[in-house]
Amino acid sequence: MAGLTESLGRLQERFAAAAAAVTGERELEALRVHYLGRNGEVTQLRRTIGTLPPDERREAGKAINDVVADMEALLEDAAGALRSRALETELAQSIDVTFPAPSCGLGSIHPVRRIIERTCDYFTRHGFAVVLGPEAEPEYYNFDALNIPDDHPARENFDSFWLNGGIVLRPHTSPIQVRTMQRYPPPVAIVAPGKCYRRDATDARHLYAFHQIEGLLVAEGIHFGHLKGTLEHLCREIFGPQQSVRFRPSYFPFTEPSAEVDTTCPKCGGTGHVAENARCAMCGGSGWIELGGAGMVHPNVLLEVKYDPDKYSGWAFGFGVERLGLALYEVDDIRRFVNSDPDFLAQLR
Ligand code: PHE
Repeated sequence: MAGLTESLGRLQERFAAAAAAVTGERELEALRVHYLGRNGEVTQLRRTIGTLPPDERREAGKAINDVVADMEALLEDAAGALRSRALETELAQSIDVTFPAPSCGLGSIHPVRRIIERTCDYFTRHGFAVVLGPEAEPEYYNFDALNIPDDHPARENFDSFWLNGGIVLRPHTSPIQVRTMQRYPPPVAIVAPGKCYRRDATDARHLYAFHQIEGLLVAEGIHFGHLKGTLEHLCREIFGPQQSVRFRPSYFPFTEPSAEVDTTCPKCGGTGHVAENARCAMCGGSGWIELGGAGMVHPNVLLEVKYDPDKYSGWAFGFGVERLGLALYEVDDIRRFVNSDPDFLAQLR
């Protein structure tokens, strides 16, 4: 037994020295086989147990098992050390911590939202309140209260999506006029931005879901000149000081008189052509961009909300936000505003 203990001690020392010197996985495996393999040194020592006196065999077996456990632990440590050395080498080679990091792509405000913000900003500076309304409206707010009764042909013009129970996805923001005036006594001055929906086939100029911004001012002595002045100033603020505004006679049941509002095409500066003989593609050569409708609030609408039309008068307008965006950012296709193309959005940042 004393001989065995001595051999084990020497074997363990040799093994530890060898394990400490190992530089690769294959070498480590060879070491394991040499000591612990089927014909390894330890196995050979085990075979000598049979030559010992029977009362020592048990202790000898235990001594060998203890040594094997130690050796296995050493092997495990050596393998771990090899792995972390390999990782260190890899990291040292492939990571340059001074290399500039790739940009994480800062987001930006969507152009539609920015136009809404700028327009609201203009009006709040002039004492208007910003109000919102529901996107699903009972036909009363969307039509009846706006002087468009059930049998009125103008209902057709709004190409509405009908939900169940006489509810429409609002095709314009004008129902907010009614909601506001029914809730507050005159005078009122509001802007109302929001999403609108129409059964339009999608193309370069139409979306079935788009945004409008509505304006309404009702007080004593308000006339068409106030409307013209306000919209001209708004356009100059948004597009620049050279901007003109044009009113074309039109028809809306809830305004009288009514107008379509155009502003100078910013691409051609109102000339209708971009170069000698090249028609401006933005305005189709007219020199004007259509922004939306406007007019003086119809007395029937004032009566419906219990405002006295003999005492109060007002103007209203409703502009297409994406239409403003086409002109402002000189974009060729309205669908770009909804395609979520990060490159396009980054250009307009
Ligand atoms: N609501 C109208 C439309 O969407 C626009 C408009 C608003 C016209 C306010 C006059 C007054 O077509």
